[in-house]
Amino acid sequence: MQALGIDIGGSGIKGAPVDVHKGKLLAKRVRIATPNPPTAKKVTQAVNEIVQYFNWESKIGVGFPGIVRDGHILTAANMHESWVHVNAEQLFTQRTQCACTLINDADAAGLAEMHHGAGKGHKGKVILLTFGTGIGSALFLDGKLVSNTEFGHLQLRGKIAEARASDRARSEEKLSWKSWGKRVAEYLAHLELLFSPDLFIIGGGASKNFDLFKKSLKRIHAEIVPALHGNSAGIVGAAMAASGA
Ligand code: BGC
Repeated sequence: MQALGIDIGGSGIKGAPVDVHKGKLLAKRVRIATPNPPTAKKVTQAVNEIVQYFNWESKIGVGFPGIVRDGHILTAANMHESWVHVNAEQLFTQRTQCACTLINDADAAGLAEMHHGAGKGHKGKVILLTFGTGIGSALFLDGKLVSNTEFGHLQLRGKIAEARASDRARSEEKLSWKSWGKRVAEYLAHLELLFSPDLFIIGGGASKNFDLFKKSLKRIHAEIVPALHGNSAGIVGAAMAASGA
């Protein structure tokens, strides 16, 4: 079964057709820079461009960086306020003429990693975190997704965690991998205190550099592994959500 997966991010909108049973991209992914400002109108246009690029005519899954409930967007911290309360599932379906399923971007990445990646076969509590423009989170209990957890918005030293420990914070503050890693460790320790997960999966743009900061992740009891699908997890998982796989 195939579906087109699209991942809307703070800096890029990426998409590719996916074999949802194998969890593999069927073509090289396409990336469009996220419009500035990322209004509902402009982003919808970019989503449609990706659909047109692949001449896609069947199901599409779209990952969005905000709380998603019943196809509606409830928050859009790193996007534009024009998204809030929008029925984006309906908007994308109408614009692209392809049946759309909407899911939180980190939940999508989590689905991909739990079924086809670093979390495959893991029971117990697993937390996947995506470190990019923000921090996304996906919580799994015995393989089942608990959606819209938004752990990136927990407070850390009086600041929202993603403002302190996202990959954007690392590059904007020109932090070394070591000092950024210490911030991530502090964040993981906080999550560990609250949830005692068995496994953390580190995803998002930073996952490919896991070896550069893993030594800083000290005093965490849970196992910590990098995501296997890197930045493509969001595309694969969005397509999985669309197919119901
Ligand atoms: C959003 C989350 C999203 C994360 C990563 C946060 O700012 O609130 O919904 O998963 O960024 O994109």
